[in-house]
Amino acid sequence: MAIIVSGGAGFIGSNFVLNWLSKSNEMLINIDKLTYAGNLKNIKSILHNPNHIFIEACIGNEELIGDILNKYKPRAIINFAAETHVDRSIAGPKLFMETNIVSTFNFLNCAHIYWKNLDFNQQNTFRFLHISTDEVYGSLAEFDLPFTEFSQYKPNSPYSATKAASDHLVRSYYHTYGFPTLTTNCSNNYGPNQFPEKLIPLVITHALNGKSLPIYGDGLQVRDWLYVEDHCDAISVVLEKAAPGEVFNIGGWNEKSNIEIVRIVCAILDELSPNKNKIPYEKQITYVKDRPGHDRRYAINATKIMSDLGWKPKETFESGIRKTILWYLNNQDWIHDIQSGNYMDWMQQNYSHRQ
Ligand code: NAD
Ligand code: TYD
Repeated sequence: MAIIVSGGAGFIGSNFVLNWLSKSNEMLINIDKLTYAGNLKNIKSILHNPNHIFIEACIGNEELIGDILNKYKPRAIINFAAETHVDRSIAGPKLFMETNIVSTFNFLNCAHIYWKNLDFNQQNTFRFLHISTDEVYGSLAEFDLPFTEFSQYKPNSPYSATKAASDHLVRSYYHTYGFPTLTTNCSNNYGPNQFPEKLIPLVITHALNGKSLPIYGDGLQVRDWLYVEDHCDAISVVLEKAAPGEVFNIGGWNEKSNIEIVRIVCAILDELSPNKNKIPYEKQITYVKDRPGHDRRYAINATKIMSDLGWKPKETFESGIRKTILWYLNNQDWIHDIQSGNYMDWMQQNYSHRQ
């Protein structure tokens, strides 16, 4: 038996793969294109694990994906692969259309073709789990109720619009062909291995490097934060327990404004790694021009996954953010390699599975 994961060298995918291999003996085939966001250093501890096969490939490559599916005969596929940074989607939306819509369609379609040729029992147990985001639901006002699985799709950025499109494709394959899909829509994640262009790792790395901490607009935008391992556990639970066609929102009931987040990170850094002159890191906060079309608030109602599947997050924000900051402090070489671009060289030198 095997499962296939796409995007398993990125932030959430790498945490999922590490988590999965620590508790299962099942083969895991990890397909990743190794874009700027994919980093084999995220999974270096398992590159020689016999239950893990890494394949550098694009989910949009029809022939290669077809071959991989026929060779490894997975019982399940989890699709993490995507372009994920909202600011990049504003600066250059085309790549988001190509990856998150066209390549994701190809992956889904190849999986469907593979599934049609399975025997009856294998077809019944097979699952295609698509990882998505709460951003597809658009923006909430201050007193609106959190998003449920019935909230209307109202994506506002090129990123969220392309994720919404992929969610619709996945849904259509279940309804049209009976292909056993699952979709999860999760809130903002934080934790180890997150590329330092996203808010929390950006603030940690900028603070330590004495750079300014840019707050977009008034900093009162709200995100609902979940520790990445809790997300990974939720994905495992959905994969094993959910019925085909189901959709689950995932979140930690943990809404915080951006300025609150930045102040919390600064305070923990002041305690764990004060700067030379003991000047509070908060002094580095700088308000900058707002992101165009900036969503004001995201919040997830996670009642369905909690009551139907019995999942709940293990970390509070206080415990998760401390773990996260400690991880970045203890892995400064990981940060330096990214900042200097050396991680790409490391991949060239240490990696020979190119297809
Ligand atoms: P990430 O940007 O850190 O990693 C994406 C990974 O996908 C990288 O390893 C990259 O190399 C790979 N990839 C990109 N294009 C590919 C392609 N065409 N073929 C194969 N691999 C490709 O992203 P992340 O933050 O880990 O997000 C993973 C998934 O979770 C995404 O689908 C994202 O929309 C979703 N999500 C993210 C968050 C969050 O807070 N980060 C929250 C909810 C949902
Ligand atoms: P980000 O981590 O990019 O995630 P997303 O846009 O998917 O929610 O940003 C989180 C929030 O932080 C978002 O409201 C934008 C804001 N932000 C800043 O204020 N400054 C920054 O430098 C970044 C990267 C984000």
